[in-house]
Amino acid sequence: MGPIGVFDSGYGGLTILKEIRKALPEYDYIYLGDNARAPYGTRSFDVVYEFTLQAVRNLFERGCELVILACNTASAKALRSIQQKDLPKIDPDKRVLGVIIPTVEALAKVSKNGNIGVLGTPGTISSGTYDIEIAKFCPAFRTVSVACPMWVPLVENKEYDSPGADYFVRKYVEELFAEEPEIDTIVLGCTHYPLLLDKIEKQVAGRARVITQGALVAASLADYMERHPDMDARCSKGGSVTYLTTEHPDKFTDMAGIFMEEPVHASRIELI
Ligand code: DGL
Repeated sequence: MGPIGVFDSGYGGLTILKEIRKALPEYDYIYLGDNARAPYGTRSFDVVYEFTLQAVRNLFERGCELVILACNTASAKALRSIQQKDLPKIDPDKRVLGVIIPTVEALAKVSKNGNIGVLGTPGTISSGTYDIEIAKFCPAFRTVSVACPMWVPLVENKEYDSPGADYFVRKYVEELFAEEPEIDTIVLGCTHYPLLLDKIEKQVAGRARVITQGALVAASLADYMERHPDMDARCSKGGSVTYLTTEHPDKFTDMAGIFMEEPVHASRIELI
């Protein structure tokens, strides 16, 4: 038995961990943020895959049987290769899940007119993963997307609440509506973006519903555990959370406390 691993390039995955813990408080969790190498959003496929695989291996070595990639960029660029190529070699019984499929599955219930807008990192948007998965699950839907390269740096540098952030929120939201004025649902396809939610909602001004991923991923994980009692039995239940970062722990502790709205203590590790 081992904890559930939750991985992100930095702090963004904490918006997912927070909701997962609310829904499933009984499990043990290890959160790993590769803060020293974040952001991933502007990195190539090969690099995101290599870094993500290192993180997954590390979490497996710490006893995790199940790892959630709480990062859209890693889910878009590395998940499929890890599931198909690496898992069978490392340990076919372990599992790695992402955040994009649970998000897309929820869209069918939310959108009325089928016009979906996706906001994400340059890596997630250029991968086309949302367009491909939405076309699979909801073939009648139309997807438009805009990359928001400045949003993760605004969050990582604690500028998400500053007046300067308004400019970049307006810029990308209006680019999306310029592409398709009839959008009725906007997906925040990056786990950092919930920190900008107030500003994004203000800019959207009721023109569309804005979807964040935390609660969707948490509900999907609860459902997964119910459908896979074998995996549930292999996940330890002590209600603990361990925080690991590849950056200096003091920096992580400060920012992660803001995300989790509770004190956080982290240890530094190296990924190789
Ligand atoms: N939080 C990650 C995501 O959901 C991306 C942040 C980054 O660019 O590293 O896409």
